[in-house]
Amino acid sequence: MHWVSVLIVAALCGVSLSQYDDQYDDIFWLQQYLRSRSSSYSYSPYYEDEVPAYSSYSYAPAESSVGEPVPETPVSRDCPNECECPPNFSSALYCDTRNLRYLPFVPSRMKYAYFQNNHIVSIQEGAFDNATSLEWLALHNNQITSEKMGKRVFAKLKNLERLYLDRNNLTKIPTPLPRSLRELHLSYNQISKVPSNALEGLENLTALYLSHNQIYEMGPNLKGLKSLILADLSYNQLRKVPDGLPSALEQLYLEHNHIYTIPDDYFKVSPKLLYVRMSHNSLTNEGLATNAFNTSSLLELDLSYNRLQKIPRVSTRLENLYLQGNKINEFTISSFCTIVDIMNFSRLQVLRLDGNEIRRNNVPSDAPLCLRWASVIEI
Ligand SMILES: *[C@@H]1O[C@H](CO)[C@@H](O)[C@H](O)[C@H]1NC(C)=O
Ligand SMILES: *[C@@H]1O[C@H](CO)[C@@H](O)[C@H](O)[C@H]1NC(C)=O
Ligand SMILES: *[C@@H]1O[C@H](CO)[C@@H](O)[C@H](O)[C@H]1NC(C)=O
Ligand SMILES: *[C@@H]1O[C@H](CO)[C@@H](O)[C@H](O)[C@H]1NC(C)=O
Ligand SMILES: *[C@@H]1O[C@H](CO)[C@@H](O)[C@H](O)[C@H]1NC(C)=O
Ligand SMILES: *[C@@H]1O[C@H](CO)[C@@H](O)[C@H](O)[C@H]1NC(C)=O
Repeated sequence: MHWVSVLIVAALCGVSLSQYDDQYDDIFWLQQYLRSRSSSYSYSPYYEDEVPAYSSYSYAPAESSVGEPVPETPVSRDCPNECECPPNFSSALYCDTRNLRYLPFVPSRMKYAYFQNNHIVSIQEGAFDNATSLEWLALHNNQITSEKMGKRVFAKLKNLERLYLDRNNLTKIPTPLPRSLRELHLSYNQISKVPSNALEGLENLTALYLSHNQIYEMGPNLKGLKSLILADLSYNQLRKVPDGLPSALEQLYLEHNHIYTIPDDYFKVSPKLLYVRMSHNSLTNEGLATNAFNTSSLLELDLSYNRLQKIPRVSTRLENLYLQGNKINEFTISSFCTIVDIMNFSRLQVLRLDGNEIRRNNVPSDAPLCLRWASVIEI
């Protein structure tokens, strides 16, 4: 069903359902239902810091006001008062954007639970112990702190595939994480250190978002993530690249850190790597192994706003190279081509060298033979 995925997307992105009126006639009734209920909901928010005991909740449906009949279904009975459980989407719990300060009960049938955009500070121990069917759990944009997160709160979620904890107040990565995870969202927290077993065994993790934290050391955490395709560690305090990359990696984002060095053959262990972004770091030519970036799978390399004085050697397959805002003072054609003939030339299409110390007349006259496909060279 289309509308199932529409609902999920809508909840996650804050997209208004009304945008889909025309295309998705079959969700029209649901909107009517939600509208008819919206006036009858009692959110009864708690403003104390303490988490109320479960026994203080009533799981009965909210009473409807006169003239606004609410469909009676067996499913809607088992729904926290503060939340919405659409009768025809019995595995989804909507508790987002309603000033909640605590986490409501999650009925065990739920696969999708949305708590984003609230003021939740704590996750009580055992909060999800009954919710073992959960596949998506959205907790982003709250104020959850690591101190107020119960031990092993996610440990029993054997089916959890996506966990959204971005934009909270976490200082640590919660552990243990379910091994079933495919996406882990932890951006915009205050995480500083990642213990070396924090991501252990996440064999299905394909995307890891840790940007906008204070991580100063990643250790060997990425190496063992055999399904990882995207790692976003941008906007942190890293001085070193992570120790070892995973073999399936395609996208690596490290911009806005303090990285000054890259070891020899560092990228060679990831033969599918397509995009590497390292702008706004402290890279110098002295800190780079000669062929550090000469890795044949790369299509895009962003090294802008570093301290490079020379153009690093790159593979002839590279298509986009961003070097603006460095201290480059010569145009070395040998960085792109070692031999030039009918078969051997650079596939580079975009090269940015603006904001460096070279001028247009520093470009050697034989450059077009090597940079045959370049459509943009900005100096
Ligand atoms: C939702 O309700 C409609 C009409 O009652 C029904 O045809 C459809 O199969 C239901 N969809 C789901 C996913 O239960
Ligand atoms: C979990 O389910 C059991 C049995 O259905 C129930 O007794 C218990 O109160 C539930 N626990 C939580 C934390 O909801
Ligand atoms: C979470 O962080 C924000 C911004 O730094 C701060 O205003 C807020 O008080 C913090 N909340 C908690 C519960 O620590
Ligand atoms: C990883 O995904 C595969 C294929 O979907 C699945 O069979 C396996 O159980 C998953 N692993 C874990 C630890 O959940
Ligand atoms: C890149 O490495 C290959 C061997 O892997 C080598 O043949 C080529 O000359 C190198 N490119 C540059 C620009 O040094
Ligand atoms: C030059 O092209 C030939 C023929 O395709 C190839 O065998 C050789 O490896 C290429 N050399 C370089 C340095 O790319």
